[in-house]
Amino acid sequence: MKIYRTSNYLEMSRTAAMILAAQIQLKPDCVLGLATGSTPIGTYEELVRLHRLGYLDFSGVRSANLDEYRGLDRENEQSYYYFMQHHLFRHINISPENTFIPDGSQQDPDKECARYEQTLKQLGGVDLQILGLGHNGHIGFNEPADTFPKATHCVSLTRSTIEANRRFFEKEEDVPRQAYTMGIGTILQAKKILLLVSGSDKADILKEVITGPVTPQVPASILQFHPDVTVIADEAALARLDA
Ligand code: F6R
Repeated sequence: MKIYRTSNYLEMSRTAAMILAAQIQLKPDCVLGLATGSTPIGTYEELVRLHRLGYLDFSGVRSANLDEYRGLDRENEQSYYYFMQHHLFRHINISPENTFIPDGSQQDPDKECARYEQTLKQLGGVDLQILGLGHNGHIGFNEPADTFPKATHCVSLTRSTIEANRRFFEKEEDVPRQAYTMGIGTILQAKKILLLVSGSDKADILKEVITGPVTPQVPASILQFHPDVTVIADEAALARLDA
């Protein structure tokens, strides 16, 4: 694991965007694995800025998102589909038919998860995967568990994730209880992984992820076994690693 320390969130976002931009320059038809949540918003803003300046062409880029709430359709403003349109896709020249996200409106989990795995296979795998980190160590919606889930699957969200995501919804009852997510096996197939982490509230879990035992109780700890992971984290998030 390489660790890239930045002074703050803005610098973390710019660093991540530069790495994504380099990936697109090197392979214009690359497959980017994308995440939602608060962490990558600054990275997406920077990508939009570089695109508007004429430095970044997304016309050949393909993207695959990590996850989506089960039960929310694309028009729902809390869906990850909507998030991606709002923060990135509608501001750049990526073709809509080149963007892939699990379909939250599909009620049959087995069918939808198999379909999404097939989509990822047809894309030829992810070249560069962006990940955020949950307070409980989750990546995608792979929650702490007794085993590492292999493929895309339907998951019941833990109480801590429901509470963490509550800030995006009007009432806690509105937070969906289930999601479709790439599995840990799916994530590990990405050629390169960027784990973005910001803020003192992630310092304890980041230390466990990087230096603790590899265990499905801390799903992101499995990244220790991937050959090409770069952690881009700000000082606040790395504070417990200094100790
Ligand atoms: C979202 C995702 C989640 C988030 C994680 C951190 O697509 O995969 O694992 O990355 O919950 O969320 P934030 O960035 O909001 O702290």
